[in-house]
Amino acid sequence: MPRQTQGETRRDFLKASTAAVSAATLVTLPAGGVFAAGTDAIRIGLIGCGGRGTGAAVNAVTADSNAKITAMGDAFADRLASSHENLAKTISDKVDCPPERRYVGIDAYRKVIESGVDVVLLASPPHFRPAHLAAAIKAGKHVFCEKPVAVDVPGVHSVEQSCKLAREKKLSIVSGLCFRYDEPKVETIRRIHDGAIGKPLVVYTRYLTGLLWNHPRKPEWSDMEWQLRNWLYFNWLSGDHIVEQHIHSLDKAVWVMGDEPPMAAVGVGGREVRTDAAFGNIYDHFSIVYTYADGRRIHSSCRQMGNCFTDVEDTVIGTEGSCDLMKHAIEGARPWKFQGHGKNMYQSEHDALFAAIRSGTPIDNGSYMCRSTLVAIMGRMVAYTGERITWDQLNASTEDLTPPSYEMGPLPMAPVAKPGVKLIG
Ligand SMILES: NC(=O)c1ccc[n+]([C@@H]2O[C@H](COP(=O)([O-])OP(=O)(O)OC[C@H]3O[C@@H](n4cnc5c(N)ncnc54)[C@H](O)[C@@H]3O)[C@@H](O)[C@H]2O)c1
Repeated sequence: MPRQTQGETRRDFLKASTAAVSAATLVTLPAGGVFAAGTDAIRIGLIGCGGRGTGAAVNAVTADSNAKITAMGDAFADRLASSHENLAKTISDKVDCPPERRYVGIDAYRKVIESGVDVVLLASPPHFRPAHLAAAIKAGKHVFCEKPVAVDVPGVHSVEQSCKLAREKKLSIVSGLCFRYDEPKVETIRRIHDGAIGKPLVVYTRYLTGLLWNHPRKPEWSDMEWQLRNWLYFNWLSGDHIVEQHIHSLDKAVWVMGDEPPMAAVGVGGREVRTDAAFGNIYDHFSIVYTYADGRRIHSSCRQMGNCFTDVEDTVIGTEGSCDLMKHAIEGARPWKFQGHGKNMYQSEHDALFAAIRSGTPIDNGSYMCRSTLVAIMGRMVAYTGERITWDQLNASTEDLTPPSYEMGPLPMAPVAKPGVKLIG
């Protein structure tokens, strides 16, 4: 793999990594129809073998009776081994991944892509998504792409380019913004768009949750290994929790607003409780107001703190009613509630992906996965800087969180952001 060296930009890294993959990849997927008969096996590569990646692998092979996991890649051998062990136990007949197709290291993604797979599941920490997606699309692979798609604006713009290429190549990209595949949410938001609460004016969205996992540093770990193993807590890797987790809420809110991006945002955030260096350089709470030119608003808050009230809700206020989106309930002039249970949304997104591959009718979730990632980054930026930021300013941002090198060595941690100190770049 072309290692990123001092002074090399992420743009160079992306260019080099995609060029290397395209040159080395002998087997590319003829888009669409080749699988129409449903008899050819679909070979799946998993990149990022953690909790979600392992779950996505199960969803993928459940979605298609003739699909197998044939390659796996992870930055760390122990993570790959436990994922493989888990899969070999739960879906043994769907795993055909001998040791020579289990790849370890930062460049494992490239080897998975080169191994002759047809589909890749991208589930590494978000920082790597732009490079991994670029390489996969360039090599002609269909993709399941976990959220968020990047941690900074140049990263999202790279993903937009990859999505454009995927469209040209008729490749599917299905996003891990799973609520878009949750039948009760789809039906509720469809009704909102059909006027069930009049014009939606405000969305109040909250993701107030407890503490997440943390891996205490081992003496033998370099800075890079420590940060990668605790990727949630470093904004270059996760984008901070407003981007990594609260993106689900922001995605629903923007979806309600007709998938229009907000015009501007202001907000606050900070680090009250999770102040130890073990928690890297991210905040533990944010509160952001996004505004639209016509006065509509999204009020968003998120928190990751222990021993506090937890609440994941979205309330939509319209001119003729309101909606509790997580309860799929509409009140006002046209009351309604979703009856029954939708299918498991994590399964539904893979069912859709594999049906699209078999039928040769690609799915393109590129626009909303990029837009919602940008909205989340916008929230982080206004809290970190203390500035009001417009959509146009956001899109002009060149702030690139890529570290100078991916070597398993020293990597000083960027300081915790202080509002009023740094302007947006
Ligand atoms: N849609 C959802 O509801 C949902 C739920 C959980 C996680 N996620 C997303 O899935 C992704 C993974 O989250 P997770 O909970 O599985 O985290 P995790 O830490 O359990 O897994 C991440 C894995 O990626 C590996 N990794 C790190 N750098 C890598 C690289 N450069 N190349 C290959 N592998 C690398 C890690 O070693 C680890 O095994 C994140 O983007 C997260 O936001 C989505």
